Amino acid sequence: MSLRKTLAVLATLIATGTAIPTPSQTETSSSFPHLNELAQAKGKLWFGSSIDTTSDSVKDDTYISIFNQSAIFGQTTPGNTMKWDYTEPQNGVFDFTLGDETIALAKQTGKKVRCHHLVWTKETLLGAMKTHITKEITHYGSNCYSRDVVNEAINYDGSYTDNITYAFQYAREAVQALNADIKLFYNDYQISQPGTKVTSVLNNIITNVQSAGDYIDGIGMESHHSDTFYPTVKELNTVMSEYAKLGLGIHITELDVACESTPCSTSGQTGQAQAFYNVIHACMETAKCTGMTFWDFNDKYNWIQPSTNDGAGDATVLWENCTAKPALTAVEEVLRGESCSVC
Ligand SMILES: *[C@@H]1O[C@H](CO)[C@@H](O)[C@H](O)[C@H]1NC(C)=O
Ligand SMILES: *[C@@H]1O[C@H](CO)[C@@H](O)[C@H](O)[C@H]1NC(C)=O
Ligand SMILES: *[C@@H]1O[C@H](CO)[C@@H](O)[C@H](O)[C@H]1NC(C)=O
Repeated sequence: MSLRKTLAVLATLIATGTAIPTPSQTETSSSFPHLNELAQAKGKLWFGSSIDTTSDSVKDDTYISIFNQSAIFGQTTPGNTMKWDYTEPQNGVFDFTLGDETIALAKQTGKKVRCHHLVWTKETLLGAMKTHITKEITHYGSNCYSRDVVNEAINYDGSYTDNITYAFQYAREAVQALNADIKLFYNDYQISQPGTKVTSVLNNIITNVQSAGDYIDGIGMESHHSDTFYPTVKELNTVMSEYAKLGLGIHITELDVACESTPCSTSGQTGQAQAFYNVIHACMETAKCTGMTFWDFNDKYNWIQPSTNDGAGDATVLWENCTAKPALTAVEEVLRGESCSVC
């Protein structure tokens, strides 16, 4: 997905202007708020962050000492290492080494794993898909407590990729053969506000899959937003209640909020804080929304870098030097059920 495309279609303009407090001290594992404990105290299953074990992040002690704390992050999602390109680099040739590394790190640091993902839009030939899904589910087994089965299958006009229902069917069959309980999710971006894509998720993906069988457990809302375009709590509640009405669980799966220009301005930081606040607020208010995941928590390791995204970036709650942004305060406050002092 391109960030520009996402930004172009997100629709809510926000008010800015509140003063931003001066940045706090460098966050270490002792000062970083205990997001997972806070979320669990309010009945959620976890608060998590993605990790990419192929990046330098795993050699960055300040960063990893935060990641490692299960009081901070109780779940992780491999950023890349379980994608098809890694797990089946050539047709029929499987390599689970890097994904195994993520599983090991998660186990050592007390985290559940959302395995991500089995099938992307280009990979939908039935035979190849079935082999891939079955092999991968069988390999990782219950080390994955949930899985994104299909990722980003809907186009901007609402049309969608063929054979999705089969992907879910094969996934459920593989899970049943293991006698395991692994939750199966559809994951996509730009499905946080009512609109064409949400309608297609409801009418095409969910309805089709549910009418074929009991194959889907939930929706992953990617939540890539920006400092000027992001959903309101009301919009999020509307969409989440549609998913929940169909009996599905909801995960916030890839939460980051890019500043459209960098370095992120004072008003940009305010908008960013509000966007994080809104997404988490809506999840906290929705019983079926059981967990939230940052798409990394330090700008240095987030996928939206200014050099490759027309100057947009600074999308996480920590600056590269590991000091906290207002957004981190907003996240802590919303998890505590407090109003936002920095929005
Ligand atoms: C993080 O946890 C892993 C797994 O237990 C350990 O190998 C590593 O040394 C820890 N790193 C830091 C900086 O705490
Ligand atoms: C769906 O699967 C069939 C059978 O393998 C294949 O012919 C078709 O191209 C697939 N559709 C897509 C969009 O990949
Ligand atoms: C960390 O980086 C931010 C953004 O570049 C900067 O505003 C802040 O002064 C830095 N803090 C420290 C302690 O270096």
